[in-house]
Amino acid sequence: MKAPPPPVTPFRRERLARAPWIASHMLVRDGAAHERQRRLVTAAFTRRRVESLAPSMQAITDALLDEVLIAGKDGSTVDLLAQFAFPLPMTVICELMGVPAHLRDDIKAGMETTFRGMGMPDEEWAAKFEVLERSLTELVATKRREPGDDLISALIEVRDDGGDTLSEDELLSMTFILIAAGHETTVHLIANGVEALLTHRPQWDLLRAEPERVPAAVEELLCWCGPVQVAFPLIAAEPVDVGGAVIGTGELVIVALMPANRDSAQVAEPDVLDVTREPRPHLGFGHGIHHCLGVALARLEARIAFETLLRRCPELRLAVDPDELTWAPSFIFHGLDRLPVTVT
Ligand code: HEM
Repeated sequence: MKAPPPPVTPFRRERLARAPWIASHMLVRDGAAHERQRRLVTAAFTRRRVESLAPSMQAITDALLDEVLIAGKDGSTVDLLAQFAFPLPMTVICELMGVPAHLRDDIKAGMETTFRGMGMPDEEWAAKFEVLERSLTELVATKRREPGDDLISALIEVRDDGGDTLSEDELLSMTFILIAAGHETTVHLIANGVEALLTHRPQWDLLRAEPERVPAAVEELLCWCGPVQVAFPLIAAEPVDVGGAVIGTGELVIVALMPANRDSAQVAEPDVLDVTREPRPHLGFGHGIHHCLGVALARLEARIAFETLLRRCPELRLAVDPDELTWAPSFIFHGLDRLPVTVT
């Protein structure tokens, strides 16, 4: 019998208290403070910067698929999550941010701990988190000394009309949130999307024949099996009436994004996966002032990943019965533990 998954505790306030800088980013700010940070970060994280990454994204995608095709030759099973969906966004975000090779493994492991280590004993968690904190501090200090053509250097340089800049804690926090948000989410959009298309084979075949439909398919997958289950927890600052239910001041509000994306009042047959439909309106990237800042990057990365998979691995198939796939215990993310496939 399989061991039960570790218990998932929602939010470990005492853990985050040991690193106050971590709560200095825009996702946990409101009003003018949020607006100021978002304006500064947007000035550095431009569409042009994202689009200029396309050739290296394609090269990273191809290099990972070269490995997948070698590992999967002769019908061997490959874990597409570990070998493709996971390393692709991590490598892309490290390129964008300008993370040097010697810090990547520590940052990668630290991010894993922060998001997946909820069931871990406190001491083990703290030791791993310290490695992440040290690596991020070194990263920002290095960019200050030796700026490059990367997003962290741009965030250090950015200033608004009044000469305002991001503080040291804000830089650390922003580096953390951009690497975290730019990575775990896209991993699961790709892996969940592949699983969905392979378990609805006609949809996979349709995209193989008409790859120009991939951008619309990415939107459909975001709705149908998106990676983010809930928006960041909120506390009501004043009473709010939501469809007759009153949320009182001080009450915790957790917005479930995925059920909203399957709302039959918004779209016909919401439970049907149909990559040919007009993109439905969705909350996969959130809504309002915290609407995802990385939309352009996520869409570009997912488009390149799916187009390349369809072209280079047309015979991709699940290597196990879909019922055997397991989903990682997470309050925030909807994602698989593994994605065993064959490529020939
Ligand atoms: C498939 C990929 C992605 C999905 C599904 C996604 C989803 C989301 C969602 C739902 C929110 C809103 C959270 C809330 O309201 O509490 C959000 C915010 C955010 N996302 Fe993404 N995201 C993705 C990729 C990215 C990428 C690639 C980046 C950047 C590198 C990024 C950076 C951010 C940031 C900075 C915020 C906070 C914005 C703010 O507070 O103003 N995301 N994302």
